[in-house]
Amino acid sequence: MMGRESKETTLITGGTGFLGSHLVARFLAEGRRVVALARNREGMSAAQRMVRLLDWLKVPQNLRRRLEILEADLEVPRGGLDPDTIMDLQNKVDECVHCASDTSFAVGKREQVQRVNVQGLENLLDLLAGSRCRRLHLISTAYVAGKQVGKCSEDLPPEDGIGDVFKDALDTTRFHNVYEQSKHRAEHVAMQRCAVIGMGLTIYRPSIVYGDSRTGRTLAFNALYHPVRAVHYFRKLYTEDILRHGGRKAGALGIHLDADGTLHLPIRVLGGDGCGVNLIPVDFFLRAFQAIRDTADPNGVYHIVNPRNTFISEIVTFTNRFFQLTGLRSLPGGEDLPRNGLELLFDRHVQAYGAYMRDARVFDRTRAEAVLNPVGVVCPAFTYKVFAACMRFAVDVDWGRRLWSDTTTPVTASKQKTSSC
Ligand SMILES: NC(=O)c1ccc[n+]([C@@H]2O[C@H](COP(=O)([O-])OP(=O)(O)OC[C@H]3O[C@@H](n4cnc5c(N)ncnc54)[C@H](OP(=O)(O)O)[C@@H]3O)[C@@H](O)[C@H]2O)c1
Repeated sequence: MMGRESKETTLITGGTGFLGSHLVARFLAEGRRVVALARNREGMSAAQRMVRLLDWLKVPQNLRRRLEILEADLEVPRGGLDPDTIMDLQNKVDECVHCASDTSFAVGKREQVQRVNVQGLENLLDLLAGSRCRRLHLISTAYVAGKQVGKCSEDLPPEDGIGDVFKDALDTTRFHNVYEQSKHRAEHVAMQRCAVIGMGLTIYRPSIVYGDSRTGRTLAFNALYHPVRAVHYFRKLYTEDILRHGGRKAGALGIHLDADGTLHLPIRVLGGDGCGVNLIPVDFFLRAFQAIRDTADPNGVYHIVNPRNTFISEIVTFTNRFFQLTGLRSLPGGEDLPRNGLELLFDRHVQAYGAYMRDARVFDRTRAEAVLNPVGVVCPAFTYKVFAACMRFAVDVDWGRRLWSDTTTPVTASKQKTSSC
């Protein structure tokens, strides 16, 4: 897999995240030197966390000597790095892939999300100003489009009307959540700052990323996984109620178990067939990223999206089949109909994802496809086979709780701020 060893060094932020860790592995496999910027958390150093991820990603030991891990927090000026480390970094980094982000939609985390996504980017660019770094790859999101309807272009969205995001409340007329607003603002900050310091800027806008389309393996269990996990939880809860506790609670909600083990779970999922959810697998994201990085105009915006939204009715059918259920069905329109107790529980659980599950936005792909089509990079269809592979993996690792049990290399402790592995 490994290409020729390259002298070029890539700085990757968010190296401990879902997409960032895959990109670290990918760049190492290409023979590049990588500096991964990461935080220590939950009693583990940044290096320990990276080693665990590289094990999970099955990165061969011989590639890891080209990886340096730098412990830094982008919420603080210049990542909290000391002057010598900064000078060293500035002298060796040729390009930067910025994946670090706070991806929470929670209203209560507004300031934190803005601080990481906007001020964190400013802090990174302060670090890189005056360095040899010539290109910034900004991992943004297709959802900077916010509440726009219809076709969303591969251009920077208009900036007008967005004041100082650190002072302003969420602009609910334009955005569903603070995440969208902060990512929108970050694109503008990157454009202005890169123009001033003479750095190329490529903006990548993926839609919703799920696991590997062939193996189903994933490091993240949000978005697509969230509503399916709720259904799986209800299945376990009410099957147990019926089998062990007489089934009174299940009966009150119209839930029953057939002799062949099929559970009837009456949930009407809101979402019509005119819309749906835009899903891309992580393997497609990685191939698309690489093709755009290698061949596209360094100054451009690219949607990395699925040409076809998956309808809620399809996900509902897949979920019924995979978990041996009846009763789950999609309800086109119907927002005004009374909801049963189980539906209210479900609705509350998936509320934050409503805008993404019933998405009528269409993401223009002209620019991305001009790069991806000639090299044969195509988004795989979201079929039952793909869904089943993803959900089998998710259930096997208990939706992330047992994620690390399939990695074998013991993690070695390191007290150093800068480490390599
Ligand atoms: N996954 C998707 O479906 C999707 C879709 C569209 C766009 N995106 C974009 O893709 C990028 C990566 O997303 P992801 O799914 O990989 O997210 P993720 O798994 O939540 O990873 C986010 C990364 O950012 C790091 N980070 C957060 N705050 C930081 C700080 N103050 N200083 C340094 N690092 C910090 C996190 O570090 P810790 O591990 O220490 O928390 C983590 O490594 C984001 O820009 C996101 O907006 C993702």
